[in-house]
Amino acid sequence: MKAVRRGLIVANWKMHKTAQEAADLARAVSALVADSCTFRDVVLCPPFTSLHSVKEVLSDSPIALGAQNLHWESEGAFTGEVSAAMILTSGCRYVILGHSERRQFFGETDEVVRRKLAAALKAGLEPIVCVGETLQQREAGNTNSVVLGQLESALDGIPSDDISRVSLAYEPVWAIGTGRTATAEQAEEVHAVLRKWLRYERDEEVAEATRIQYGGSVKPDNAAELFAQENVDGGLIGGASLDADSFAAIVNAGIDP
Ligand code: PGA
Repeated sequence: MKAVRRGLIVANWKMHKTAQEAADLARAVSALVADSCTFRDVVLCPPFTSLHSVKEVLSDSPIALGAQNLHWESEGAFTGEVSAAMILTSGCRYVILGHSERRQFFGETDEVVRRKLAAALKAGLEPIVCVGETLQQREAGNTNSVVLGQLESALDGIPSDDISRVSLAYEPVWAIGTGRTATAEQAEEVHAVLRKWLRYERDEEVAEATRIQYGGSVKPDNAAELFAQENVDGGLIGGASLDADSFAAIVNAGIDP
């Protein structure tokens, strides 16, 4: 990971863990990785129902809290939804937006992701915007146009000053939860394309400052090589973040003692 950008390692617990189980896992993770927060930012994103219990556990810890989704309206008749202010006041600093599972199973379009991003920034959160191509899109040679289309749409109308609070996650859909990781070269290639877009469509400062995480079957044995790539600034970790030891090994991957 590059000196110019602080590493960012995010645990996406998805729909796993009750409040008590989440608190137990957060406690175990905290004991193992608190010291690493000197070198990297570490974030835990439990389900909404566990934000409170995990916040309590992390109260004296440098590990930050994040949510996995939000609604773009500030309040109203939206049964089952949660606003940016509700997340922020529950102790979250970060929020994951546009995850491929949201796009795939809950019909989230680029326009929805753009609205959510604007709402998150307005509330003062630090959003993590996910982009990624399906296997079919990759095999058709459309990877770059797909991820850049998602990025362009998400950032449409967002002032460059606000982008300093946004990080990106490149998550190839074919690598999520499949055990099939993108090679370090494949990840680096797409990360470099994303950064180049930021450079030309925004400016050098935005391009250099924006953190781009890789996500998709990151494990303790492939994390160091991925994180060593020039444009890879950390990871968004699903399955391997549900085990404290494996998540800690990923957080510490490539850090010289
Ligand atoms: P995975 O999930 O690490 O289980 O592949 C990553 C993600 O979906 O964020």
